[in-house]
Formats: sequence, C-alpha cells, structure tokens
Amino acid sequence: MNSLDTYSFENKKVLLRVDFNIPIISDESDSVDDTRIRLSLPTIQKILSENGSIILMTHWGRPKGKHSESRSLKNLLPLIEKLIGRTVTFCEDPLSDETFKLVQSLKPGQIVLLENLRFYKEEFEGDEKFAEKLAKLGDCYVNNSFGTAHRNHASTATIAKFFPYDKMFGYVFESEIKKLDKLTKSSESPFTLLIGGDKVTTKIGIVEALLPKIDNLLIGGGIAYTFAKAKGYNVGKSLVEEEYINVAKRILETAEKFDVNIQLPVDCIIADKNGNDANIEHCEFSEIPDDWTALDIGIKTVDLFAEIIEGSKTLLWDGPLGVYEMTHFSYGTLKLALTVARATDKGLYSVVGGGDTIAALNKYSVSHKISYISSAG
Ligand code: ADP
Ligand code: 3PG
Ligand code: MG
Repeated sequence: MNSLDTYSFENKKVLLRVDFNIPIISDESDSVDDTRIRLSLPTIQKILSENGSIILMTHWGRPKGKHSESRSLKNLLPLIEKLIGRTVTFCEDPLSDETFKLVQSLKPGQIVLLENLRFYKEEFEGDEKFAEKLAKLGDCYVNNSFGTAHRNHASTATIAKFFPYDKMFGYVFESEIKKLDKLTKSSESPFTLLIGGDKVTTKIGIVEALLPKIDNLLIGGGIAYTFAKAKGYNVGKSLVEEEYINVAKRILETAEKFDVNIQLPVDCIIADKNGNDANIEHCEFSEIPDDWTALDIGIKTVDLFAEIIEGSKTLLWDGPLGVYEMTHFSYGTLKLALTVARATDKGLYSVVGGGDTIAALNKYSVSHKISYISSAG
C-alpha cells in the first residue's frame, strides 16, 4: 500500500480530498474556525515540496445538491491562500472543460480548489460517473478527509476505485486512525462518552461502537430530545429526529445491557424563539412546555456531567451541548469545556472531536489543554 512518505509526487497532479468543512462560529459575525484547514497543511506542504501540483476537493456544510452563495468555497479562498502561503486558483465548475484544461496545464507547485462538491447531488449519492470525471483530473488520489470516513460519497469512497494503485491516505487520516485505535484498545476506566450536537445520525455509529467499552454515556445538545421523545417526555418544539426515535430506544436498551451509566440531562434552558432576543426560561428536562424550544442544558445537568467527567480517566467528547454559537445558549458547552480542560490537567485523557466542538474549545481558548483533538465529528 502506498503512503505519503513512500510515494513520489514529482510532476504528479494530486487529487487531494480534504475536510475543509469548517464551522461558522458566531451569530454576530461571519468568523470561522480554521482548525481543519491548518490540519491539512503538512500534507499539502509534503506534496508541494516534492514538485507535485494539487487539486483540492472538499465539501462545506450540507447544501443538499444546490448552489448556495453562502457555502461557496470562493468565500474561503483568501483564508486558504493565506494559510497555505500560495495563490490558489478557484474552479467554479469542477466538471467543465475549462477546469479540465486548467488542470492539464498545472505546473509543479500550483494549486486549484474545486467548488463545494455538495452543490452536486451526485457527490453525496456516491455517483460513479461523477467520481470517474473527478478522477480524470488527477494522476493520483490522496484522502485526508477523516471527518467523512463514514460517508460513501463520490469524492471519498467511489473515486478511490478509479485509482487501483495510486491512492493513499493523508497525514490527518493516518494519524487519526492510529490515535483512535489506541483510544478504543487501551483506554483506562472509567471511560466516559459525552455526546451532543444536532444530528443523531452522525453520532449513532460512535455510540454503538463504544457501548461495550464505556462506563458512562452523557447525552446533551439537540440530540438529547430524540432520546427524551423515546422516553415519552414532553419536548415542546425542541429538535427531534422522528425517524431516529427507535434508534434512541435501542441505544438506551443496549446501554443497560452493557451496564453503562446513561445520563440524559435533568434540566434545560428553553426559549420561545431561536435567537439571542428570545425570552428564556429554565425547566425540567422531562417537562418542556409546548411552544418552547430547549437550546442548552441546564445548570443542574452541567454540575452532574462535570462530576462524572471529573471522576473519569478517559473522555471522548463529540458535539456541543447547546446552541453555542449564541451567547445565551453557550453556558453548558463553555462550562464543560472548562471542566474537561481542568480535569485533563489533573490526569484525565481527553479526546475531543467534531468541527463545532473544536470550534467551541478554540472560542473558549482551552483546546491546547485537551490530550488529543480529532478532526472527526
Ligand atoms: P460537531 O461538529 O462538533 O460534531 P454537530 O455538527 O453534530 O457537532 O452539532 C453542532 C450543532 O449542534 C451546532 O450548530 C449547535 O448549535 C447545534 N445544537 C446543539 N444543541 C442544540 C439544541 N439543543 N438544539 C438545536 N441545535 C443544537
Ligand atoms: C464533519 O463535519 O463531521 C465532516 O466534515 C462530515 O460532515 P457531514 O456530517 O456533513 O458529512
Ligand atoms: Mg458540525
């Protein structure tokens, strides 16, 4: 199998799939968290230093197969150029003849960036023809997008088939596999999994895989309300993924079977609309009034989660506990970020993943305290 360190990139056009799915971290400005771009820099520099040229491919957000001005990678071009320290040519239509010609004429050291691949439904459908056309742009394929390792998309899984030999993982992908393998094989107990965020779909895999290994499962964020619904609680207008209620039930049952201490929130912060100007109340987790939306975990939950984290030896955290982008709903995420940082100082092995969770840690200036930051969500 090829690797970045053994492959020769001399005069090669390298199709590099990166994960530049970077979060927009504030509702007051367009500021973004650039961690994921920075993580790919060593891979990019390695290829450039060996006289390869690069065709960068990524997604940004979930534009669902439609063009969207706000998710155009044109917006990230100045930031990408600044971080790489070179000019990057933007290709608005990745499959056009113009792009093909431009890529054909690439000289060693030159870089192009293809427009957000999720503007095309073929990307997330894993379409073969689409992947084949993308594949024609490069001599070899490097996958550095660990964050999409679980997705069967055209630029991740399908495209690899068109490079039977000339394909490899980037440094991010390689190091993530090593670190996470270590975490699952030799973690010290008590091992706590803290999950939040807004999509049950993206968290089920990790929860189900780790249930046999963990001691505590703490659930917060938007996904907690699908679990609340599964338990028959009143959730008001809080986020619920109806089609995952059964999955939530299954997780609750399996957790019991494995003797995992599963802890849902006990209280939450609710709002009568989505925004910093909303009326805000505090209520029990099981009794959210109709017409109100839970947007953060409450103070009792924060204390409860903090105590369990402080008593743990290993912690894996993925997903903010509330709508951390808005000041009013960021308390849970902020307080637990500080707790994790302090506990890590005292010996906790902490692993944190997820674009938004990392953005939150950066916002609160504690990411340097965490034992290992994973780019995966
Ligand atoms: P990560 O990128 O860290 O894996 P996700 O992408 O799964 O995290 O989720 C992050 C999103 O979850 C944030 O945009 C945040 O606002 C949202 N979120 C957190 N709590 C809630 C909630 N109670 N209701 C709705 N959205 C929430
Ligand atoms: C992430 O942010 O977790 C990855 O970039 C994958 O994004 P996705 O969940 O939209 O596929
Ligand atoms: Mg996210």
